[in-house]
Amino acid sequence: MRRPSFRLACGRDIGDISGLLPGVLGAADRIALVADRAAAGAPALKKMLGPSLAPRVRRFSLPAGREKTLGAVTGLCSDLFKAGFSRQSLIIAAGGGAVTDAAGFAASLYMRGLNWVSVPTTLLGQIDAGIGGKTAVDLLGTKNIIGAFHQPALTVCDTAFLATLKPAVRRAAAGELIKYALIGPGDLRLTIMRSFDGAMAGRPDDLLACVRACAEYKAGVCAVDEREETGLRETLNFGHTAGHAFEVLSRGRLPHGEAVLWGLRYALKVSEKMRVLDNTPGAWKVTGMIDPLPLPAACRGPKGFLKLVRADKKRGGRDNRFLLLRSPGDVEPTDNIPEKVLLAALEEL
Ligand code: GLY
Repeated sequence: MRRPSFRLACGRDIGDISGLLPGVLGAADRIALVADRAAAGAPALKKMLGPSLAPRVRRFSLPAGREKTLGAVTGLCSDLFKAGFSRQSLIIAAGGGAVTDAAGFAASLYMRGLNWVSVPTTLLGQIDAGIGGKTAVDLLGTKNIIGAFHQPALTVCDTAFLATLKPAVRRAAAGELIKYALIGPGDLRLTIMRSFDGAMAGRPDDLLACVRACAEYKAGVCAVDEREETGLRETLNFGHTAGHAFEVLSRGRLPHGEAVLWGLRYALKVSEKMRVLDNTPGAWKVTGMIDPLPLPAACRGPKGFLKLVRADKKRGGRDNRFLLLRSPGDVEPTDNIPEKVLLAALEEL
């Protein structure tokens, strides 16, 4: 696969990052560290901002729980302006996906665009959300409606941040790990299947194996299809059309990670019914690595489900669009799936 247009560093205890991209990091007149509370206090972050960066760093924050709002982003831009940040300044975004999404979006807007560094500090961020330059905030209760593709100059996935994660925060990444195992090449699938249980249990070597394999795979996909134009990056959305619908219909009872697990199962059911899936036991073995929390009854309501599927922003002008699986590693986008197939798959979950 092609090399990404941004630099990616994966490891455990990476330390001072100034040498990873000396041109960009050395040239910044000021550095805005936008970090959530957990990341700001982490020893791994202090080590990253070594002696050549630390004197130029000033800490900023986004309102906790409201990071992904336009208000939070304009608030951050105002703070940067009042503090004298210029076009030569740099933003380092350190935290979960909400922080990297919103601070990355501010980086795309402030003075028509600043360089930024993405430092995802959750397992989900290090395998997906913090990589690839999709930055956005939510609008009218809908996710990622206002945003920009703005690649970070450097992405740093340091698994030292993961040592203190609560089990539920690790589990939130289970759906994305299984997604990669379903859509990715054989070596990625093998790494995830070998390391999945250990990663969920917080074992450092298994976390590093999963992060390195997934982050490098995603960076390679984004290098080839940065703006989701050729169909390759779209495969990363496997399981997410139904997953997002379940998340909304559950009204907060189903966390995003659990909704994705159900979304993957739903996509496999539809793939079976459309007679697209030709390695059924192989695919179900992958999803069987973890059982999702029960699907709330509200998610099974056919009317609400179909309405959300038809409102999915990725469907374009079609009635609906799903990514189906032919066999592990082989995804096929399919449009206008008959309603009776969609409902039968929902009933069987
Ligand atoms: N999370 C899917 C993507 O970044 O394209």
